[in-house]
Amino acid sequence: MSRTTFFEVEILDGRTRQQMCFLDKINSCIQQDRTSSLTPKEVRTMVTLSEGKSLKDEDVLQNLPVGTTATIYFRDRGPQFGWTMVFLAEYLGPLFIYLLFYFRVPYIYLNQDTFTSSPYSVVKLACVCHTCHYIKRLIETIFVHRFSHGTMPLRTIVRNCFYYWAFSAWLAYYINHPLYTPPLYGDLQVNCALAMFVLCEAGNFSVHVALNNLKAEGGPKCRKFPCPTKNPFTWLFIFVSCPNYTYEIGAWVGFSVMTQCLPVALFTFLGFIQMTIWAKGKHKAYTREFKDYPHLRMPIIPLLL
Ligand SMILES: NC(=O)c1ccc[n+]([C@@H]2O[C@H](COP(=O)([O-])OP(=O)(O)OC[C@H]3O[C@@H](n4cnc5c(N)ncnc54)[C@H](OP(=O)(O)O)[C@@H]3O)[C@@H](O)[C@H]2O)c1
Repeated sequence: MSRTTFFEVEILDGRTRQQMCFLDKINSCIQQDRTSSLTPKEVRTMVTLSEGKSLKDEDVLQNLPVGTTATIYFRDRGPQFGWTMVFLAEYLGPLFIYLLFYFRVPYIYLNQDTFTSSPYSVVKLACVCHTCHYIKRLIETIFVHRFSHGTMPLRTIVRNCFYYWAFSAWLAYYINHPLYTPPLYGDLQVNCALAMFVLCEAGNFSVHVALNNLKAEGGPKCRKFPCPTKNPFTWLFIFVSCPNYTYEIGAWVGFSVMTQCLPVALFTFLGFIQMTIWAKGKHKAYTREFKDYPHLRMPIIPLLL
């Protein structure tokens, strides 16, 4: 015969610690229901057991370290936005900002340079590459990715947009500057860098498709570890856990070499640091979750890192 456990739950305001309500004799299956009827903008509440650690929608009281009396903290995280919205905001900015510099609209460079164009073919090529990169990301956001995370707070979106938008303005300013000097080793340098850029973009796209096919096979919350497919670009999964990040960095290294521009190299370096941190986290989660996880795989750089 199954026995029903009843809990007492005290809900406190996360900031003031004042009691908001007290629930007596509730059964273990109580869950947060934040997603079923609310839009992402409204999903702004978070409940935690202690400082910082938030509870998932699917958590049930019986599985939490609370005994039969639970104290839960309720927080308001401010306005929230869905991930598709977040990525659209982040990527549309760089796309248009770069073009303002490329076309040299008024008030950026000297008056005599307004609406002129650079004599160097590498500047045109860089504009095509940059534009294609962000169009690809937008297409992936709309048609490929199926994000399973909840939402992002408005504050974080503003910070991320500032990062992407400011960097694209900074690097576009130098690449399209009338005094820009083309790469030291001329066409050889540009063509090699272009080949690297194109291959890495194709690889990045292929991995995103493979990741989302994996999710399509097992449902939105299913996590399997990804493996190489028939597409040769995905064979990088033999060596790393996050080849999409490896290819992303490769594309930006290619763009840095092609333009020979310091702000691009700095953007690449910061992206590398951020993606390495994420890749290490994902790699650790895979190795912890899957006992048969391939030993050869590193987080982001084959055989090294
Ligand atoms: N230049 C830069 O500074 C920079 C920085 C960050 C990202 N990016 C670019 O943006 C892209 C997306 O970044 P991200 O951090 O969102 O990548 P991500 O965590 O690898 O996620 C990409 C997509 O793949 C899915 N996915 C990941 N692992 C999966 C698994 N084991 N099973 C099923 N689906 C899985 C994700 O779904 P979930 O939502 O369920 O995880 C998401 O839809 C990167 O690949 C990179 O090209 C660039």
